Amino acid sequence: MINIPVLLDYLCDGKFHSGEDLATQMGVSRTAIWKQIKRINEKFPIVIKSIPGKGYKVNKPITFVNRDEILQNLTSQCNSVLKGIDILLECASTNQFLLDRIENNKLESYLVLAESQTHGRGRRGREWVSPFASNIYMSLLWTLKISIAEMSGLSLVVAISVAKAIQSFGINNVMLKWPNDIYVDNKKLSGVLLELRGEANSPCNAVIGIGVNVNMPKLIGDRIDQQWSDMESILKKNINRNHVIAQILNELIPRLEKFNEYGFSEFMDEWNSFDLLAEQKIKIEGNMNLSEGIAHGVDKQGALLVEHNDKIQSLYSGEVSVRAV
Ligand code: BTN
Repeated sequence: MINIPVLLDYLCDGKFHSGEDLATQMGVSRTAIWKQIKRINEKFPIVIKSIPGKGYKVNKPITFVNRDEILQNLTSQCNSVLKGIDILLECASTNQFLLDRIENNKLESYLVLAESQTHGRGRRGREWVSPFASNIYMSLLWTLKISIAEMSGLSLVVAISVAKAIQSFGINNVMLKWPNDIYVDNKKLSGVLLELRGEANSPCNAVIGIGVNVNMPKLIGDRIDQQWSDMESILKKNINRNHVIAQILNELIPRLEKFNEYGFSEFMDEWNSFDLLAEQKIKIEGNMNLSEGIAHGVDKQGALLVEHNDKIQSLYSGEVSVRAV
């Protein structure tokens, strides 16, 4: 049985590999290698060429998501709390993958990453466009002792962590659009989708889904119905996704622990320092009571403070979408 990720790792360095070498490495016949490469060419957007006398070569080198490289770049604190990592070539949605598993298993502090998603989910039922081996699609399962009712600030804490991680790669103008969208130059770079499971007043399982555009193929990006950006076009260099994933976890895990102890109030100032809408006139959709106002940052629960008719009102996550006007 050929392990496709291992075969892809050998193949995708951009060099020639003879069928014989690959067969020896994988412990199978040359025919088995040939059949598997044919299958990869059919199923994934990778072109593996076969040149007689030289061997197989990919058209463009790819660095795959790799467990060892992620672990090497994690702090020892994160290393010790993360109980497991699954890496999938393809799945419907990394969030759904974890949600299906928490029903039956006692999974804890578990990370799942995928090279592509066939039904990547965004907030409000939107699609999250998830092409192969281009971007980051990750979901972290985390158990919090606080109840669902106290969770309103969690998605904002996740967004701060992603913003900090992205900043550490040299992208300085990262901003957050309430509640948890990550923007650079008014273009969306990353999004967070939180899905919670638990009883009203007991510990709660959070599936924390994070998508980061790292190297979005232009033609596929054209399908996205809003302005978007990716890390490689901003930085004008190649980015190793494993380093970004590790950095997100290094920022996120300590914050999750702090949130679990002290709640959102500890993060209010940090979130407000990234606030894209601060003091701007905004339009609010999907809220019966308030349709416009001036944004004044977030309160200790993570609610957006909106001034309208000389009164300040609080808006909670998931209720509304906000657009600068
Ligand atoms: C948004 O609409 O801004 C949220 C996007 C969240 C996308 C990520 S990708 C990994 C995880 N799996 C999903 O299906 N969605 C989230």
